[in-house]
Amino acid sequence: MRPQRLLNTAVYKATPSSGLSVTKPCFRDHTTKMKVAAIASLILPLVVPSVFAWGAEGHEAVGYIAMQFLAPSARSFVESSLGSMYSYSLGPAATWADVIKSKSAYKWSSELHYVDAIDAPPTSCNVDEVRDCGGGHCILSAIANYTSRIVDTTLDDSQRQEALKFLDHFIGDIGQPLHVEAYERGGNNITAMCAGKASNLHAVWDSGIIVQLLKNEYSNSLTAWVDELVSRIQDGVYELDTTNWISCSSTTEPVQSDGISARTVADDIAYFLEESPAITPLQCPLVWAGESNALVCFDVLNYASRSQDFCAGDYYDAAVNDIQLQIAKQGYRLAAWLNVLFDGSTFLP
Ligand SMILES: *[C@@H]1O[C@H](CO)[C@@H](O)[C@H](O)[C@H]1NC(C)=O
Ligand SMILES: *[C@@H]1O[C@H](CO)[C@@H](O)[C@H](O)[C@H]1NC(C)=O
Repeated sequence: MRPQRLLNTAVYKATPSSGLSVTKPCFRDHTTKMKVAAIASLILPLVVPSVFAWGAEGHEAVGYIAMQFLAPSARSFVESSLGSMYSYSLGPAATWADVIKSKSAYKWSSELHYVDAIDAPPTSCNVDEVRDCGGGHCILSAIANYTSRIVDTTLDDSQRQEALKFLDHFIGDIGQPLHVEAYERGGNNITAMCAGKASNLHAVWDSGIIVQLLKNEYSNSLTAWVDELVSRIQDGVYELDTTNWISCSSTTEPVQSDGISARTVADDIAYFLEESPAITPLQCPLVWAGESNALVCFDVLNYASRSQDFCAGDYYDAAVNDIQLQIAKQGYRLAAWLNVLFDGSTFLP
């Protein structure tokens, strides 16, 4: 039920300074110019999606961060599967799932971008796989489905590419607190002002805060922001936490369904691919969902007044920290996930 056209949502363009998804055309003659225009018209829909999930920036950041941590076989699969159409990168490919979900052939996929946790925020936040993904069509089951399909060599290349693009996107979305919350349609129904413009709380968390951050601190450069998050992971404020990020243990969401209290991404995937008889949600994504959902009870719904500006002041300060941490985590986790699938281990510290 989430998809909804958002009023007054900014249209995101790849910023010239990002230089990530658009190659600068060099106009030599008329024919080249026309060719470039034709190619641009094919490519633009990929980089200027309508925005419902983490905006284009958030998703691309998750993809670009993951690229920095891929092991050799995972990298080789990603590059050959995505090809030149996506600049061989999870960054540009990360927004595909948002672009196609409104098309009739892919309408069925729109409900896979979230799980509607029917909890009681701000008093009580929790995710329950049976309660919240009962019909088996939510982000948890989708991650399971595409985890099994991406390594299914009986599928053709385009089906495995589709699985990769869905994982690239959903492992991002599961880190957005309001993609793991039913309350007020994941915040879509809460009107909220962002930088002086009418918006809603869901859109503020998907994109409003990120756009404001890029403007405030990175001269609108996605590359500069990604570089900063990667350096926080490698030898900055996030470094000591990265082991926890891929341990799949969580203080808010204990893993328990098969009696194992903490497991690694590698254990989780191995158990799923070798033992699990059906497409049932994996444990690590459930832990990640629990972490995101917990934020709904803390910072997401912690506003003084609905008429305040959500992209400024204390609310912005708290949200921008959460969002950067969530984006960094999900990029790192996406790399870990693909590394286990293609290289047999996370290859991460
Ligand atoms: C798994 O993915 C395929 C291809 O996108 C889709 O047709 C199918 O319905 C999915 N299955 C489940 C159980 O989600
Ligand atoms: C959200 O708003 C829509 C349209 O106004 C309404 O039909 C729906 O019941 C609301 N949902 C929730 C969960 O508040």
